[in-house]
Amino acid sequence: MLPALPTWREIGPEIKAEAVELPFHVLTKDSQMTFDVVDNKVRRIYYGSRLTRPDDVLAVGSSSSTLFYPTRMDAMGPWENATGEWDISITQGDGTNSLDLVYDSCLRARPHPGVELVAIVLRDTYYPIRVSLYVLAHDESNVFEQWVKIENLGSKHVTIDYGATCHLQVQASRYYVTSFRGTWGGESLLREEEVQQGNCLTLRSDVGVRTAQEGTPGFVLALDHPAQEETGEVYLGALAWSGNYIMNFQHSAYGKMFASWGVDMQEAPYRLGPGQILVLPRAILTHSMHGKGEASRQMHRWARRCGIRDGHQERMTLLNSWEGAYFTYDESLLQTMMERAAGLGVELFVLDDGWFAKKYPRDNAQAGLGDWVVNASKLPNGFETLIQRGREKNIQFGLWVELEMVNPKSELYENHPDWVIQLPHRDQRVERNQLILDLSNPEVQQYVIDCMDRLLSANPGIVYIKWDCNRKIADPGSLFLSSQCQKNLFIDYINGYYKTLEAITCRYPHVVFQACASGGGRADYGAMAFHHEFWTSDNTDPYERVFMQWGIGHIFPAIAIASHVTVSPNRQTGRQTSLKFRFDVASTGRLGFELRPQDMTPKETEFAKLALETYKSIRPVVQFGDLYRLRSPYATGEAALMYVWTSTDNGKQRAVVFACMLQKLLATRAAPVQLRGLHPGKRYYIRELNVDESGNRINLSGVEVGGDFLMNHGIPFQFSQAIQSALVEITEV
Ligand code: DGJ
Repeated sequence: MLPALPTWREIGPEIKAEAVELPFHVLTKDSQMTFDVVDNKVRRIYYGSRLTRPDDVLAVGSSSSTLFYPTRMDAMGPWENATGEWDISITQGDGTNSLDLVYDSCLRARPHPGVELVAIVLRDTYYPIRVSLYVLAHDESNVFEQWVKIENLGSKHVTIDYGATCHLQVQASRYYVTSFRGTWGGESLLREEEVQQGNCLTLRSDVGVRTAQEGTPGFVLALDHPAQEETGEVYLGALAWSGNYIMNFQHSAYGKMFASWGVDMQEAPYRLGPGQILVLPRAILTHSMHGKGEASRQMHRWARRCGIRDGHQERMTLLNSWEGAYFTYDESLLQTMMERAAGLGVELFVLDDGWFAKKYPRDNAQAGLGDWVVNASKLPNGFETLIQRGREKNIQFGLWVELEMVNPKSELYENHPDWVIQLPHRDQRVERNQLILDLSNPEVQQYVIDCMDRLLSANPGIVYIKWDCNRKIADPGSLFLSSQCQKNLFIDYINGYYKTLEAITCRYPHVVFQACASGGGRADYGAMAFHHEFWTSDNTDPYERVFMQWGIGHIFPAIAIASHVTVSPNRQTGRQTSLKFRFDVASTGRLGFELRPQDMTPKETEFAKLALETYKSIRPVVQFGDLYRLRSPYATGEAALMYVWTSTDNGKQRAVVFACMLQKLLATRAAPVQLRGLHPGKRYYIRELNVDESGNRINLSGVEVGGDFLMNHGIPFQFSQAIQSALVEITEV
């Protein structure tokens, strides 16, 4: 396993940098970006596969290449085509909308082996504005992170009307964009569409917080053909931001694709005071000539090394109390759930919503939010008994919080009505009976930090926090921000959220954090800098999860994707599925449960015990392995994927294959699933896992075959009905 890399936040000013001679290349193992300065403007001459001789790209000359960070003025110049190909627009202190950025200087550094940082500094030719562009290149994963710092060096306020973080300008015959859009209960559903010449495809969210619910800020851009798994040229991108975002894919009248992405400021330009700095969020970008499969694997490798927290550490299996108990429980019910979970082999018990508030107890979603004291009538001994009992039974303890929110019926609201996001002279509109706290206000940030600090310092046995966030911003006004800076709320809120999380997670580095926001509303790399995983969706129907997990898995590795076994019929959809199917689907991510283990039949309990043991045995393969998507549920009535991992003990490969039949006509027979990522000349032992009373789905279990057989002939799966699945382990002998 590769060691963790420092994250972009840990790259400080003490890094030794050297001046750069132009033109210059930023190289990774297989990718190359080349920059030059022509007429004082920075151009990215090339971004694609690394060339044997990187200088060869210079042969075509720089002048026809694209500006690295065009301003609105650049795009509107008489020599340009004015199709909106610009990244930044600023209204200066004198009211003029003009920004003319020219090259100032460039520095490069190697903050860590395998990582290169380049800072390109631009300045306006007249106004006191400095814009620094950062590129952080990750050698091994072929991922580039890019971000922008805008400095107002003058004595007047300026307004940033638009500031993308990054753009890509490419030329091909056709362009196909894959996005991962959704809503509550159906997040990250994959859709691919061609962008026709002259059209612009825009993907955005402007709900302020939990914006990933409307679609994770990520995409695949495929050139010439729809994206294939292992062939064709693709770019895969994401934005590390948990607030409003916009991703534009503009197929210009001249046949080029201009893809730009960043914070959505259309409705909320940002006012920057004298001497102030705004850092725009990171874009994350990777390129592949071998399809979106390789692009995802590159992104996943980067994520495990530095994009999510502790991506090199195995995640615990857990039982979350939500679907098993909702708000209605007492200590004895929780203790039984926890003990029975421990008996199954579950490693962590997470107490979800409903444990807090005194004056207005949190017995439903109507009251108590904001009052983070234990409800003594439910838990007379606080968490101590549960934690202690957990220790005896070998199961750890975790807790749900939603610190950004408040119910009007709470002591917090009674004491601090001014802390809530609100518009003066308007009624405060509740959503899920709650209001949202104004995290742009440092006093509110400190309150949140202190609440968390109190909880964690008083209960050192809490090892996991599920951090929830269950509403959007609807009335965007802040009693803290000045009247001129009201629109800064959208950005300042998210930066306040990050600041808060940073303070807490630095103080409690060993506590695992899950990002939850009514399900998958914070499945974004901004939140993931502070969290270990995200809750993928409140929809736990495994059939629907196959589609959602397939979608989100394009951008995030399995280790970040929380997937829980719940009861059948499913509480959200009413669909009936076998326990095996539920386990197989959940075992392709970070496995957990949400049910009452004591309600399981002895047969189910027996199956669950074995399936948990099985998951633990394949955990490093799923959580650290390379993902190969073999058969898309969006294309056929089947799905298949596999993880391949090279054991750190003996250097041999281990793989896990998941396959399922989602729809079945009587006469259809699934073709064998051809595996990938194995060594054709090596031998592999096949073992079917999680077999239940309905029998085996393959007839190769217990057999040894060659990698070439598995990849060329493939594994034939026998599914007699819809909603059947198989889990197969492949071990190099
Ligand atoms: C929304 C989350 O997505 C659920 O898992 C659960 O934690 C509830 N909130 C609790 O209110």
